[in-house]
Amino acid sequence: MSEQRFFRFLQERIGLDVESVGVPMVERALRQRCAALEAADMDDYWVRLQQSADEQLALIEAVIVPETWFFRYPESFTALAGLAHKRLAELAGERPLRLLSLPSSTGEEPYSMAMALLDAGIAPTAFHIDGIDISPSSVAKGEQALYGRNSFRGSDLAFRERHFHALDEGHVLDARVRQRVSLHVGNVLDPALARRNGQYDFVFCRNLLIYFDVTTQQRVFEVLKGLAHAQGVLFIGPAEGSLLARLGMRPLGIAQSFAYVRQPEGPPPVAPARALGSRPAPAQPVRPAPAAPRALRTAVATLPGSEPAESESELLASIARQANAGDSAQARASCQRYLRQFTPKAQVYYWLGLLSDTEGDARQALTHYRKALYLEPQHPEALLHLATLLAAQGDDVGARRLQERAARAGRESER
Ligand SMILES: C[S@@+](CC[C@H](N)C(=O)[O-])C[C@H]1O[C@@H](n2cnc3c(N)ncnc32)[C@H](O)[C@@H]1O
Repeated sequence: MSEQRFFRFLQERIGLDVESVGVPMVERALRQRCAALEAADMDDYWVRLQQSADEQLALIEAVIVPETWFFRYPESFTALAGLAHKRLAELAGERPLRLLSLPSSTGEEPYSMAMALLDAGIAPTAFHIDGIDISPSSVAKGEQALYGRNSFRGSDLAFRERHFHALDEGHVLDARVRQRVSLHVGNVLDPALARRNGQYDFVFCRNLLIYFDVTTQQRVFEVLKGLAHAQGVLFIGPAEGSLLARLGMRPLGIAQSFAYVRQPEGPPPVAPARALGSRPAPAQPVRPAPAAPRALRTAVATLPGSEPAESESELLASIARQANAGDSAQARASCQRYLRQFTPKAQVYYWLGLLSDTEGDARQALTHYRKALYLEPQHPEALLHLATLLAAQGDDVGARRLQERAARAGRESER
């Protein structure tokens, strides 16, 4: 079955690049909707889709990927809390902070923003957060604020004790947090969003652009840039930095936060974690790839102060710790030590790639990412970072191919 007209519909309506989620997945959704409506065939379904706004929504609901959880990329929330204090001081009581999560899916992201600010001692009245998502059912779930196990991942769940009540059906979020967040149904491609232009001090747009083709990504970045206040900060997914840099945004340089601001007139608002290189589109500072974050964190926590003869896992933990502290030279030396002592690992080449990327050495970064992918063809972050580098070099076709591979790898690992 090849149903280009449906693919075009999804592309035009929500920006979905069907290849990014896989043609079979979209075809399955089409068959489900056909069956639900008891449509005679695809032509009949097409006509009914055109005639019914409800059916259009139902098809959109069937193809979106609502995957999310609380405090996804935790460092970005720590960074947000620090930056929010600073911004509040600048505003000096003129107005509360305004924040946006787009897409907000089932609410975990905007509620994490609220918890991070409350936990940082910011008064509930000092900020308000809007969450926008195209999926009415996701927005409704977010408003219910009742969450199951999948929404709580990672080892640090202390926030759940502070902000949730346990019920038989799951954990329900306290009203104090819920009240700081308004969830809305909306489309990032809707021109009406422009009425919110310049409003937001902080905009989160994460894990949406991976479903768009390069042209739509660029269009959405313009939208996001417009939504943010001139001094606003944009938080994005880990691999989207190069595209932003082409639009006149630069990384704040806070390790693993993936936070960007407009190119400054004067000095940067926050001192970078390390000297960034000269390449116009440096990737964010290094973060451990998702392959074993929990294990790595545990290893970091138990690492002895002085380094005796290291085991493989200790050395990996050292690399993560050094890289995340912005200590590029040490991190690189540790990577090289690792490659001398142990069997080469994709993860280590990925780190070397990120270190080169951050220092502006695109050529070296490409070589390292490629070695990572030679060892582990589905390494998701190596795929995404290499895609970003290729896009920055104008190789949109190559970039797109890698994005598709990364999306497929992500879906397979989620399954
Ligand atoms: C993977 S979730 C990301 C949620 C959250 N930002 C995160 O990173 O955890 C992707 C979300 O994008 C939403 N979405 C897809 N296309 C959209 C569009 N054109 N406008 C707004 N939201 C959209 C989907 O409904 C889905 O909830």
